[in-house]
Amino acid sequence: MHNKTVALAFVFAFIGATPAFPGDEGRFVVGMSQCNLGEPWRVQMNSDIRRAAAAHPELKVIFKDAQNDTLRQRAQIEEFVNSNVDLLIVSPKEAAPLTPPIAEAYKKGVPVIVLDRRVLGGDYTEFIGADNRLIGRAAGEWVVRRLAELPAVKKGGRARVVELEGLMTSIPAQDRGAGFHEALKGAPADIVYTADMKWLEPQARLEMESALSVQPRIDLVFAHNDPGAHGAYLAAEAAGRERDIIFVGIDGLAQEGQVYVRQGVLAATFEYPTGGREAVVNALKILRHETVPKEVTLGSRYFTPENIGGGGEWLK
Ligand code: FRU
Repeated sequence: MHNKTVALAFVFAFIGATPAFPGDEGRFVVGMSQCNLGEPWRVQMNSDIRRAAAAHPELKVIFKDAQNDTLRQRAQIEEFVNSNVDLLIVSPKEAAPLTPPIAEAYKKGVPVIVLDRRVLGGDYTEFIGADNRLIGRAAGEWVVRRLAELPAVKKGGRARVVELEGLMTSIPAQDRGAGFHEALKGAPADIVYTADMKWLEPQARLEMESALSVQPRIDLVFAHNDPGAHGAYLAAEAAGRERDIIFVGIDGLAQEGQVYVRQGVLAATFEYPTGGREAVVNALKILRHETVPKEVTLGSRYFTPENIGGGGEWLK
């Protein structure tokens, strides 16, 4: 009987279905440390994890929300390790301060999947995320093409761009900025105002109010995420200037950025996949002692009013 069950479980594992072990539910406990749930994107990540894990009763995922507080996230990672979770998934708020607790967990033998925002060094099992430099560069190339259509630029003038950065102590913001600047090099465009809006819509709105008050002409806002682009749009709208400005963001969620594109709020959004499903797939492999790559790079599309009906276009 037992042998039969084991054999069946192997068959199910092989075809990727749920093992049929009676009493196997919750055999593996996964701690998921989420840096905050303030943005729709992070709510989506948790829901992607929850949905993928629901197909695997042997997995029990415990979520902790650090509420955008680095010290709280450090403590929560330590709590997970002390409670002997079998594996950690961490989407860290910022790189440097969250490197040590992740490295410590890893060195104690707890496998760690770092999701979306990188840490420093290589003391973790696997990193899963999209290529933020590529996304920033693709956004920049798109922006350069779009700005070339402006009458002022056609006449030989230069475009005026505002860049609203994500939290600059987090790697996605650094990479998106670097890629964007690479693409703008040599183009007839000047970044006339830059501010760190820390990924937060209210902060972006405040920064955009300042930009509007000192810049009589702004042609385009590039924000490192869609909440930032939307905050900037709201500030421009309050100043009666939203029609003069092109807004571009990143994330491209179906229920957020893609809606803004359909509404004409954003001219483009670049998808940043959450990686939640991939984290669960890879967690299971790690827990079954299969080898996984150190890096998993997720693909990304972009959406504009022209291509959104066809599901966007993939970045190359
Ligand atoms: C959410 C978020 C996303 C962004 C990602 C970068 O907290 O700011 O909008 O794409 O984090 O890590």
